[in-house]
Amino acid sequence: MFSPTQTRRMFVVVARVSLSDSVEDITVPRVIFKNSSGASKIVNATDGQTVMRAAQANGVGIEGACEGSIACSTCHVIVDNDWFLRLEPASEEEEDLLDLAAGLTPNSRLGCQIVITEMLNGLEVTLPDQTIDMSDI
Ligand code: FES
Repeated sequence: MFSPTQTRRMFVVVARVSLSDSVEDITVPRVIFKNSSGASKIVNATDGQTVMRAAQANGVGIEGACEGSIACSTCHVIVDNDWFLRLEPASEEEEDLLDLAAGLTPNSRLGCQIVITEMLNGLEVTLPDQTIDMSDI
């Protein structure tokens, strides 16, 4: 038999575990990948993961040939207008590489350089036709 104090402590522990499970469910950042055909896929990401890694972990066709070392531009994504200005600005190195990317737009970024945080929950990006197999979404 448990004392009232022990019972209360067990209740508090159970309540905390339940609350933390709920908070995790709510705060999982999600990224929406689209292609020019209108197909889309919503994926769960982890805080600190890059857009490229979130895509690769969820079967979205971003190549990322240089593994994020800013040397290839095969992780090129086009960020939706509403989100573009919320991102940290691109570095000079990223801008230089983007100049060589196929299908460059004013909202182009390298997926390996966009770090996902809770603030980017719902981020929408389009994969350029030139860099993906259209069946990859
Ligand atoms: S993976 Fe090569 S530049 Fe992003």
